[in-house]
Amino acid sequence: MNFKLAFIGFGTVGQGLTEILLEKKEILAKKYDFQYSVVAISDILKGSVYDKNGLDMKKVLELVKQGKKLDDYPMGNKGMNAIDTIKKSNADTIIEVTYTDVKTGEPAITHIKTALQSGKNVVSTNKGPVVKQAIDLLDLAKENRVNYGFEGVVLAGTPAINLFEHCLAGNKISGFKGILNGTTNYILTRMEEGMSYEDALKKAQELGYAEADPTGDVEGLDALGKVVILTNVVLGKKIGWQDVERKGITQITKKDIEEAKSQGKRWKLIGSCEIQKNGSITAKVWPEKLPLNDPLAGVMEATNALTYYTDELGPVTIVGPGAGRRETGFALLIDLLNINRKLKRQ
Ligand code: HSE
Repeated sequence: MNFKLAFIGFGTVGQGLTEILLEKKEILAKKYDFQYSVVAISDILKGSVYDKNGLDMKKVLELVKQGKKLDDYPMGNKGMNAIDTIKKSNADTIIEVTYTDVKTGEPAITHIKTALQSGKNVVSTNKGPVVKQAIDLLDLAKENRVNYGFEGVVLAGTPAINLFEHCLAGNKISGFKGILNGTTNYILTRMEEGMSYEDALKKAQELGYAEADPTGDVEGLDALGKVVILTNVVLGKKIGWQDVERKGITQITKKDIEEAKSQGKRWKLIGSCEIQKNGSITAKVWPEKLPLNDPLAGVMEATNALTYYTDELGPVTIVGPGAGRRETGFALLIDLLNINRKLKRQ
């Protein structure tokens, strides 16, 4: 299939995907029959550019890396805002990678709704819309006979959503438990080596793991958003923020970490949800002191892990990157290749 892509937002994740698309262009065409051109980009800070015949993305990346604006691109139409780009460009697939606001989900929800209602596919790593309206947006995609992929909202490009949707299809999943936030796992890893909480947080920000406001990471809000997403999408139970008990890692001291070490244990921030026998759910994000032989205790650095409790296989755990430029950009490629496969079958 030959995709016409438009980026709404062009920060690190969009740039990460672009690098992958450029480097793997030939193999994607040869092995998966996936061809593409990027026809438009609209970014609130970098400006916008549209050329219905396709942009030279190498040139675009160079411009952006030099800190220049998209208006400096030598050809194409300039000045289209996000909504016009979605509605009026000839793109058939919108890559929504604007900043995340998990409280309102905006402006991403409006972008995604507009695209789906215009008959365009959407792939997105934006957690806000999935936390707020996952099921409604999936229904809207179905109504309009298009696709909405959001693999990257949990565990970045480590395929947590696809694992559930495809490989574990046919299982009944009664719950999940995981390390769902890279920043806090990175901080706990460094603190165990003796680094202070403040220095470890600073390092996590430098490495690009933390959210723009890292309070969301260390207070457990980012992990909470992911618990809400997995509960809605994987367990099929409609819940919101208020339904998840939460405690972050800010109260864990060096002394707590040393004490755990001497007991052969390790602190981890765990996000989980379990369906009870009466159908109700228990969802929480809470620091837990795990014995070292627990599979989640060995997951260090910014790595994430997620265990699904299935009826056929028992616990199934996936471990991999949960944050990062290309690691998250890759999630968008998973979604694009899924759509490609689907369209080829039609
Ligand atoms: N701030 C998030 C984390 C990024 O540290 O896991 C990925 O959602």
